[in-house]
Amino acid sequence: MEVHLPEDHALRTLAADVRRGLTATPKTLPPKWFYDAHGSELFEQITRLPEYYPTRAEREILDARAAEIARITGAHTLVELGSGSSEKTRLLLDALRDNATLRQIVTLDVSETALRDATSALHAEYPTAAVHGVVGDFTEHLGLLPGEPLRLVAFLGGTLGNLLPDERAKFLRSIRDVLDPGEWLLLGTDLVKDPDTLVRAYDDAAGVTAEFNRNVLRVLNRELSADFDVDAFAHVALWDPVNEWIEMRLRATRPMRVQIPALGLQIAFAQDEELHTEISAKFRPATIAEELTAAGFTPTHHYTDSATRFALTLARST
Ligand code: SAH
Ligand code: TRP
Repeated sequence: MEVHLPEDHALRTLAADVRRGLTATPKTLPPKWFYDAHGSELFEQITRLPEYYPTRAEREILDARAAEIARITGAHTLVELGSGSSEKTRLLLDALRDNATLRQIVTLDVSETALRDATSALHAEYPTAAVHGVVGDFTEHLGLLPGEPLRLVAFLGGTLGNLLPDERAKFLRSIRDVLDPGEWLLLGTDLVKDPDTLVRAYDDAAGVTAEFNRNVLRVLNRELSADFDVDAFAHVALWDPVNEWIEMRLRATRPMRVQIPALGLQIAFAQDEELHTEISAKFRPATIAEELTAAGFTPTHHYTDSATRFALTLARST
């Protein structure tokens, strides 16, 4: 596995992100800090929850279409961004191997523990492919990615929806910028549907998503010696019908003063004040195609699961 970032990079960017986010109105924290070892494990639990349909829906599409995608792209290198456990990715890898084109696997994630587990498993399962795991931020470090043409970049799990619209546009263009014309992007996006189904997917009965959301405060307590009373924050998931995204927040259930000695900061929370932690945008087929086209891709194939909950879009770099 390769860590291309300086030893203290994560801590420095965490400190800057936390200072900026917690002194803003409303208070915000960027979502990549959910994913320490515990956060990555909680996310894996989320993918198995009865309410969290996106993982199963995306796997259904890959089950049905991976062979076709392998045939269309003929990719030699599979690059996965925000790869996590790379679990569903095996369906693509198997198809590329069966197609006899697979040579290289490149995975990039901010979560070093998730990446280490995934890359050692991929090494064992795909012994004839070269496996590179890269610890990094997909909004900043795409230029560091190894991997020879012909590449297929997979960005699965609806993670695109965790970026704000302007960040999303910039991110898609940055993928296009590292690809040669004729290389491929496979993009997984969750689709707009009834708000009840959406809200339940982000506010499960067992409370796993609530734990996942609160975990970001544990990361701040550990990494920055902050003293958040984690259990005094309630998980909030709501549907924003104008922006068509789920919004996750942490609501202070009482007034609080939080000390963050590593930053020399004291942060006051009013009773019921909400800290904005993550959005998860939901898409319509026409907008997915428009955004890909605006970034310099030609969408060539659009697949959905049988219940039209989730989409996988294949696009060629132009
Ligand atoms: N692709 C997997 C995991 C999705 S969860 C799936 O479909 O199930 C989102 C993943 O992206 C997590 O593994 C998280 O660690 C990673 N991630 C989040 N923000 C990131 C960023 N800015 N740069 C790189 N990886 C990021
Ligand atoms: N990419 C996933 C999604 O938007 C990430 C996710 C799932 C998530 N559940 C969450 C992020 C709960 C924050 C809180 O579906």
